[in-house]
Amino acid sequence: RARILVLISGGGSNLQALIDAATAGAPFVISAVVSNRSDAFGLERARRAGIPSAVLDHRDYGERADYDAALATLIESFTPDLVTLAGFMRILTPHFVAGYSGRMLNIHPSLLPKFRGLQTHRRVLEARESEHGASVHFVTAELDGGPVVVQARVAVRPEDDAETLAARVLAREHVIYPLAVRWFAEGRLRLNADGVPWLDGAPLHAPVL
Ligand code: GAR
Repeated sequence: RARILVLISGGGSNLQALIDAATAGAPFVISAVVSNRSDAFGLERARRAGIPSAVLDHRDYGERADYDAALATLIESFTPDLVTLAGFMRILTPHFVAGYSGRMLNIHPSLLPKFRGLQTHRRVLEARESEHGASVHFVTAELDGGPVVVQARVAVRPEDDAETLAARVLAREHVIYPLAVRWFAEGRLRLNADGVPWLDGAPLHAPVL
């Protein structure tokens, strides 16, 4: 089974969705969880599931490049096939990202390429969008700019605030992230040399669920 390493910074509900999928028989194991914050609740989720975890605090490093070098060394100690960012709230250096080309996925709470960056739910409401969602994408040096693998769409309701919208999006994240990781683990999903994701031997045009 494919070995998946999950990077987190917080609650880890996406981590939980991946743990639950693995427990239910998906063809991957969560081999380790790494957090940049020692108070991330996701660490408790890992402990409960018997998954090894580690904390690498960015405040112990002066330069971003130094942190990322230590992070790469830590990650490699777990020999993962795939690294997944699940609410990992750090920008990664291009050098680090290049080392994981085609082997690192992220989930972002918007319908990329719309609303890269932070505070997506608030910004979607401010822009009076009628729909919103989440995207799983391969990580490239461009922040939230890597090729999209799969998206989930939700309707924005008139009564929504950022919290209700975030909750509705998060529920869909918990569906599409395990799905994309499963595709990768099954050897069906890969990033082509020209940066286009392929599924089952054909170019993937970001399916929307
Ligand atoms: C998720 O909504 C994820 O998409 C988002 O943080 C949340 C983490 O929740 N990620 C980003 O905003 C990345 N820039 P979780 O810790 O419960 O999985």
